[in-house]
Amino acid sequence: MSTPRAFVTRTLLPEALDVIREVADVTVWPEETPPSVEDLRRHAGDSEGILTTIMDRVDGDLLDAAPRLRAISQLAVGLDNVDVAEATRRGIPVGYTPGVLAKSTADLAMALLLGAARRTSESERWLRGGGWQIQFHPTHWLGQDVHEACLGIVGLGQIGREIAKRAGGFDMDIVYHSRTRYPDAEAVYGLRYAEFNDVLAQADFVVLSVPLTPQTHHLISGPQLAMMKPSAILINVSRGPVVDPAALYEALRDGQIARAALDVTSPEPIALDDPLLTLDSLVITPHIGSAALPTRLNTMKLAARNLVAGLKGEPMEACANVEAVG
Ligand code: DGY
Repeated sequence: MSTPRAFVTRTLLPEALDVIREVADVTVWPEETPPSVEDLRRHAGDSEGILTTIMDRVDGDLLDAAPRLRAISQLAVGLDNVDVAEATRRGIPVGYTPGVLAKSTADLAMALLLGAARRTSESERWLRGGGWQIQFHPTHWLGQDVHEACLGIVGLGQIGREIAKRAGGFDMDIVYHSRTRYPDAEAVYGLRYAEFNDVLAQADFVVLSVPLTPQTHHLISGPQLAMMKPSAILINVSRGPVVDPAALYEALRDGQIARAALDVTSPEPIALDDPLLTLDSLVITPHIGSAALPTRLNTMKLAARNLVAGLKGEPMEACANVEAVG
């Protein structure tokens, strides 16, 4: 049998590429920017396997152009850019990377939560701008306490659970909402289950850790923001479109909620003239939830192993559509 070809849409760390090179002729897209639709189609059309990121649209049109494809491996836990049903229909397994990045993403959720609560970005900007003229002022930079505050977690997958674990260390009162209720996690992490609207109404901090689906698109918009406390802080580490950005801007501008912290935006990258960026009450990072070196390496290696398994016709370690290969 001839050596299969694999197209990797972004440069990976060498340790991960080596895993694929053991079984396949690998082409790595050399640019900083992702391949265009045409380039992706051309390379996928010539390959038995592709390794993709969230920026690559894998849909029916791409799969039509890639009749040799027998493995798709996504370097992410989110699969909103991949039409998994289309891949399944064609018997192509889709690998993804759950588990390995949950802890790092939860770490960043806590960093955003703490930063927004204690106004670290805002006060640093003030300091760097020469604002710190008096050594100490009893009424300057008053933020919110995190310890013993009520944390609302929306979506209790692996990331949501890791956030709950960390919040326990801050003695937070944790309430969650999820499509499915998890009595096991409630017992382990001391969580209370509540309806979605009740989580919004009760929480001092609302963290979003849901996948992007048609049901979660603009899950947080005007009416939901109106249910939150005026002192509440919204944190999004899931996908940008889970929050309606125009509604969030208005809620922050009008003081309907106190602050927000976003690692994900809609669109990405956020436009520099986006009104949200005019607000000091916003903490923002550029989709870096899983961007810690050991975690990223592990994620890349898992994606590489998934691709190799798919190319060999073996079960992937993490496959979103096991039914595709019967
Ligand atoms: C994920 O794994 O889904 C992260 O958001 C990186 O894309």
